[in-house]
Amino acid sequence: MFIINCKNYDEVSGEKITKLVKTANKISKKYGVKIAVAPPQHLLSKVTSFSIPILAQHVDDAKVGSTTGFIVPELLKKSKVRGSLINHSEHRISSKEIQQLVMRLRKLRMISVVCVKNVSEALKYAKLNPDYIAIEPPELIGSGKAVSKEKPELITRAATAVKSAKNQTKLLCGAGIVSGEDVKQSMILGSKGILVASGIIKAKNWKKIIEEFAKAMI
Ligand code: G3P
Repeated sequence: MFIINCKNYDEVSGEKITKLVKTANKISKKYGVKIAVAPPQHLLSKVTSFSIPILAQHVDDAKVGSTTGFIVPELLKKSKVRGSLINHSEHRISSKEIQQLVMRLRKLRMISVVCVKNVSEALKYAKLNPDYIAIEPPELIGSGKAVSKEKPELITRAATAVKSAKNQTKLLCGAGIVSGEDVKQSMILGSKGILVASGIIKAKNWKKIIEEFAKAMI
């Protein structure tokens, strides 16, 4: 799995998000690589007609009904959003909320991606059996210095931690990934995919860079 987190980058604002998702969709089909996109929250329903999974960047453990300004899993599902990132480094939540949200998404058969910043969190949250644990050292996010080069041991140790949960959870890694070589290295170290933002969104040629990443995953 290769997840493109669009954050709130202006490069994907308005109609531009459709171009990104369309490109990712084509490349996913061409290479048989699973690609998911997490658009800015307000653009989610603009791109759910493509076949690749569209994920929310964040979801709230708020109830359906009289809650204002929150995003709830049940309504996301009805809008054909396939899952969500949970606890991204730029949007951390409590461990109780993480637990509740993983359960709620699983019940709805939606994809859960719990983001963690270190190995002990990977160990702790893999036990909840989310679909993915994504490890990202915060200091490397947006740096252009890949986690796979700067902190290879973090990926190998996280892979062991996730395996020890003995369930379906798979490991992703992210932060600073900007090239196919970074992707390849992550996979060699034991990651089953990547979570990437600026390396794709800020690239001049989306087709070229998404293709480079996809090929590196095969
Ligand atoms: O969610 C992905 C992210 O936090 C990594 O960001 O820009 O380093 O790929 P970036």
